[in-house]
Amino acid sequence: MPDSLTSTLTRYYDAVPYDSHPFPQSAMEHLEALAFLFGLDTPPPAEARVLELGCAAGGNLIPFAARHPGSRSLGVDLSSVQVAQGVAAIAHAGLPNIELRAFDISEIDASFGQFDYIVCHGVYSWVPGPVQDAILRICAENLAPNGVAYVSYNVYPGWKAREIVRDAMILRGGPRDTPEEQLSYARGMLEFLEQSARADSVLKKTLEETMPIVRSANSSYLLHEFLEPCNAPCYFKEFVARAETRGLAYLCDAEPSTMFVQNYGDKVRDPLLRECGGSQLLMEQYLDFLVNRTFRQTLLVGQARARDIRYRLEPARIRALEVAGLFAAEDGGVLTLDAREQPCHAIRNLKVTLRLPVHKAVARLLDAAYPASMPAQALIAEAARLVGQPPEAVDGAVMTMLEELLILGALRFRRTPVPAAASVSGLPHALPALRSAPRWRHRPAPPPMPATNGTSPWRSRCSSAACCRCSTARARTKPWPSTWSRKCRATGFASSRTTSA
Ligand SMILES: C[S@@+](CC[C@H](N)C(=O)[O-])C[C@H]1O[C@@H](n2cnc3c(N)ncnc32)[C@H](O)[C@@H]1O
Repeated sequence: MPDSLTSTLTRYYDAVPYDSHPFPQSAMEHLEALAFLFGLDTPPPAEARVLELGCAAGGNLIPFAARHPGSRSLGVDLSSVQVAQGVAAIAHAGLPNIELRAFDISEIDASFGQFDYIVCHGVYSWVPGPVQDAILRICAENLAPNGVAYVSYNVYPGWKAREIVRDAMILRGGPRDTPEEQLSYARGMLEFLEQSARADSVLKKTLEETMPIVRSANSSYLLHEFLEPCNAPCYFKEFVARAETRGLAYLCDAEPSTMFVQNYGDKVRDPLLRECGGSQLLMEQYLDFLVNRTFRQTLLVGQARARDIRYRLEPARIRALEVAGLFAAEDGGVLTLDAREQPCHAIRNLKVTLRLPVHKAVARLLDAAYPASMPAQALIAEAARLVGQPPEAVDGAVMTMLEELLILGALRFRRTPVPAAASVSGLPHALPALRSAPRWRHRPAPPPMPATNGTSPWRSRCSSAACCRCSTARARTKPWPSTWSRKCRATGFASSRTTSA
């Protein structure tokens, strides 16, 4: 029997479905490659059994199932409205290897079986404590011995300040009747605070950081992140300690560049290496303070596997990876195979400066192949050919470059090749599952909600201007009544009163 908070959450998600789409950080191919990089072998995604907890309408799981017909996926979510949307998409796409169930996470038990990958994205911080416990219990009990679990959650210290924003939004938006009203009143509150906060205050600084998110994020995200009844961030260390009580161990972060202390400069690296005594966990907790981190995506494994984890990257493992990357010379020209220093733009807005001809050859090869991946061994052979040297002569320089780019986060990497056509034909073919995916028809709308910028490949736009799911109109901000704000400037917050809505 769900508790009252869980029932409230169900109603909330039924009324305002979450914008369900894929998250590359939680893709099974990415989790497999991460585990491998840090010393662990996991089952190949192509044949894996996958469980997603809180899968919404399956936007993350359905594309995975379509990519890997030999895998088997199960998604559970409390919201029957969202699950029904996903079930319809699966039926239209004719995918036999995925099932979505309207089910409470807390009730999952051993009878569900074991899974090679368990994914729980955007759920842990937004559910009551007993459901958080259930998530970790499932990650331990339903994970196959060589499996990997992924859990994302909001963290302190970044959320300490963001909680001020959330509290302010709830204060004005919380008591309103509809989600649309809640959001528009909450937005008005933030604009009022933005205009009125003292220049040197913590609030002003916090708003400067948060308002770009509030302005650019879609409404379903804002409602669920800032106005939902549950949002309980924790420190990274606390999360891992809780996972350990369930027999789980920390493996790594889904964004591995955040784990390497050398990415934070010498002033940080040397003292932290001394201070943390080789504890990856402690060092990452220190780093969270340094960057005021707000969100984490943590990979967990069974404790029996902890002893095999290696945070020092092994060359043999790098050599066995498929890598991909973009490298564009900053001056817009070509990368020349000489010793001239050339700054480049790489993925994730990173900048790298290349000097060695063989490094520039590698960058050129990767850039030309992107988004397809290349195996490290082929990169060595091709780069050697470009610079007119034998492969043995460039092997060391290429391997060092790949290690540095991986640490920096300037490469995407996988265990198996990522194919891509060299050019797009005049009549490109969509994936079979996409070809038979539903045409999004207009249907009676749930309570009126402003736009989601639906990025899911499973959703195409309908032609109805009135459809709440496809409209691009933004929620209108409920401004402060002008008399109220005049009063406020003159007399302060406590003495004022809202005169109209
Ligand atoms: C913020 S949404 C995230 C959805 C999806 N994972 C994503 O990131 O797009 C949280 C989801 O968790 C689901 N949820 C909350 N409590 C749950 C529970 N006890 N059992 C199953 N699903 C739950 C909600 O219905 C909602 O779809």
